[in-house]
Amino acid sequence: MISSQIQLASYLFASILFILSLGGLSSQESAKRGVLYGIVGMGIAILSTVLGEGVSGHIYIIIAIAIASVIGIMLARKVEMTSMPQLVAILHSFVGLAAVLVGFGSYLDPKTQALTGTPHTIHLVEVFLGVFIGAITFTGSIIAWGKLEGKIRSKPLIYPGRHLVNIALVIISIILCVFFVQAHGTGGMIYLYIMTAIASFIGVMLVMAIGGADMPVVVSMLNSYSGWAAAAAGFMLGNDLLIVTGALVGSSGAILSIIMCEAMNRSFWSVIFGGFGAGPTGPAMEVSGEVTAMDHAEVAELVKNAQSIVIVPGYGMAVAKAQFPVHEMVERLKKEGKEVQFGIHPVAGRLPGHMNVLLAEANVPYDIVMEMDEINDDLSDVDLVLVIGANDIVNPGAQDDPNSPIYGMPVLEVWNAKDVIVMKRSMATGYAGVQNPLFFKENTNMLYGDAKDSVAKINGHLTE
Ligand code: TAP
Repeated sequence: MISSQIQLASYLFASILFILSLGGLSSQESAKRGVLYGIVGMGIAILSTVLGEGVSGHIYIIIAIAIASVIGIMLARKVEMTSMPQLVAILHSFVGLAAVLVGFGSYLDPKTQALTGTPHTIHLVEVFLGVFIGAITFTGSIIAWGKLEGKIRSKPLIYPGRHLVNIALVIISIILCVFFVQAHGTGGMIYLYIMTAIASFIGVMLVMAIGGADMPVVVSMLNSYSGWAAAAAGFMLGNDLLIVTGALVGSSGAILSIIMCEAMNRSFWSVIFGGFGAGPTGPAMEVSGEVTAMDHAEVAELVKNAQSIVIVPGYGMAVAKAQFPVHEMVERLKKEGKEVQFGIHPVAGRLPGHMNVLLAEANVPYDIVMEMDEINDDLSDVDLVLVIGANDIVNPGAQDDPNSPIYGMPVLEVWNAKDVIVMKRSMATGYAGVQNPLFFKENTNMLYGDAKDSVAKINGHLTE
């Protein structure tokens, strides 16, 4: 058992570690340290809460933590990097569900039932808000998981008048809150249940209305919601650390969502409310031209003859785990005195920073990994661009075709380079499901096949 003062001091220390952790995660060099701060902070947080005054049944808590830890370790070991967003989405749903259950428990708790006057009213509003945010997060995250996993179609489900329906449901929830606060004893439970059903429906509809290339923003937005749900649970339980941690997650998730919206040239509000504003009004532009392909030896020849090369990785590089042979190729080309750089799109892959993590895993030096804005203007001076398993992020239709679902999203303008090679297995579309006119351009050649296999074969030809 520890005193409440020691617990408070531990909470403060854990909060500082969480802030240092977020700071660390902002750059690749310090990311590992950031994760370590987070682990230590969470360890301190759990220990000081479990050992705190008024906590009983330690044996059950230890058993629950042990079971959850085993499941967590097994899942984390098994999950592929390409399935990370789904895992993150489903974990967000747990936070939402936890907030709902804490809300129910807190309302029925005899200790809080014994409260009177303003503290009681404040507590009831906290419970209502916490359950509301938690239920939206819970169902919204499950839908996001389904869309990312391909169980639910990614295309936005948009029906006329949906904003009015959502607004009406929020107004009904506010009226229910008034009844809930005025109810005696545990008589407000019925209002809580009805609101939970309404909020769950709102969560489903909000995320169903968003899709395609806007999904990255949904994931970070739900990350933010899960933070606010945790903060609300902190208020209900009177736990300062949970409030601080929830607020950190909530605000950092919101900032990330805004940054991603800016990167994709989308309005934050239009993404949140799902498809506000003008969408495509006509059929997508016809793509004309001929697709030409090369074999590995021809591509290796192009690579040998190029002095400046830019590599644009995408989701396919993650699927193929091609980062290792790519690193091998880069090292070889650099030794030969060629200028090699990577161009990273902010939403390449399936989660923020996905490509950076993969390249770091393969020990690619950070100083040759450029953000899209840093490299886009220089692409016209580049001899060769190797697009490895990327599609939507190099689609010129985002600039030329107002009817394209990704119109307005900034893209890597690889077609400005002298030659472009696109490595992918087929002519299949990418995540947004749109045809890519890049493949039909005169200076572009396809190299069909699995990206890892293709790069390894090119490496073989380069060694000859
Ligand atoms: P995509 O547009 O999804 O294209 C990836 C391409 O990789 C596919 O066309 C596929 O073509 C190819 N591919 C798959 N497996 C491969 C393999 N083993 N070897 C070679 N190629 C392979 O990816 P992108 O260009 O990285 O763009 C990302 C998209 O995902 C954007 O639309 C973005 O909005 C969305 N998204 C991003 C995030 C975040 S946070 N980054 C989250 C959710 C959604 P083949 O089948 O023909 O091989």
